[in-house]
Amino acid sequence: MINITPPEFQNFSKYILKISGISLDKGKEYLIETRLNPLMEEKQCKNYNELLQASIKDNSIEKRIVDAISTNETYFFRDSSPFELLQHKVIPDIIDQKSKASNLNVNSPIRIRHWSAANSTGQEIYSIAMTFKELFLDPKKYNIQLLGTDISDAAIAQASYGKYNKFEVARGLPENKLKKYFNPDGDHWRIKDEIRSMAMFRKMNLMEPFSGLGKFDIIFCRNVAIYFTPDFRKELYKKIAGCLDPNGYLIIGSTESLVNDTDLFEPKKYLKSIFYQLKS
Ligand SMILES: C[S@@+](CC[C@H](N)C(=O)[O-])C[C@H]1O[C@@H](n2cnc3c(N)ncnc32)[C@H](O)[C@@H]1O
Repeated sequence: MINITPPEFQNFSKYILKISGISLDKGKEYLIETRLNPLMEEKQCKNYNELLQASIKDNSIEKRIVDAISTNETYFFRDSSPFELLQHKVIPDIIDQKSKASNLNVNSPIRIRHWSAANSTGQEIYSIAMTFKELFLDPKKYNIQLLGTDISDAAIAQASYGKYNKFEVARGLPENKLKKYFNPDGDHWRIKDEIRSMAMFRKMNLMEPFSGLGKFDIIFCRNVAIYFTPDFRKELYKKIAGCLDPNGYLIIGSTESLVNDTDLFEPKKYLKSIFYQLKS
């Protein structure tokens, strides 16, 4: 494996910060070395400056670098409490509010828009889709729109395809839901169309403006902001506030906090879960 020199690390981490917002502090040299070594060999680069120059010229190499550096760790029903929160509080509350608001227009379906802002390989959004499904909402009465975005092309491709190996389905997914919502596909499992069709996926870098997204009733932005610099986190939460419905719900990772990054949201507690709503 080729070692990265201190000046190369400085240049490379600056570049990664610029293209993805991911902040690699000193001490993370091993991360670049281990994750980019296969690409270095494939592209026959003798040092990290060569790979950096190649990436600046060739967008496909840049994409491969982002795929390799971003940590895609995720699993079905991760941390469980956000999904209990959805089932017992968030979805019933939204339905309640929207039913009252649409009293005059009983024939039009109630629309609920959810966004998973760093959805990785799809386990998060399919867990949300299964949570909606388990509530047996009458499809004629509800229009559920789930959007999953991520910076990684490889992650979005897997999410879109909805195919998981036996280790992935063994993490967090109860046996009864595996049988109910997945079809065996060789030695893998593929999400059934009834769940797949509830979600849309799209590549999106959270550093870019959030134009054209519209307003969401629910936003999950979990376990991604921890990789960003404080400045970028502040910017991110400001943009999220701009696309959350005034009565909407923001859910962040269980080890994350908004305390130092934004005062636009009010933390609220329901059983074991914390969620955030816009300050009025
Ligand atoms: C650790 S995963 C979290 C997945 C899921 N939200 C969860 O909690 O299980 C973090 C994801 O953030 C994505 N990511 C990193 N930087 C990003 C950026 N600038 N814009 C969008 N997604 C990004 C990574 O590709 C990765 O899939």
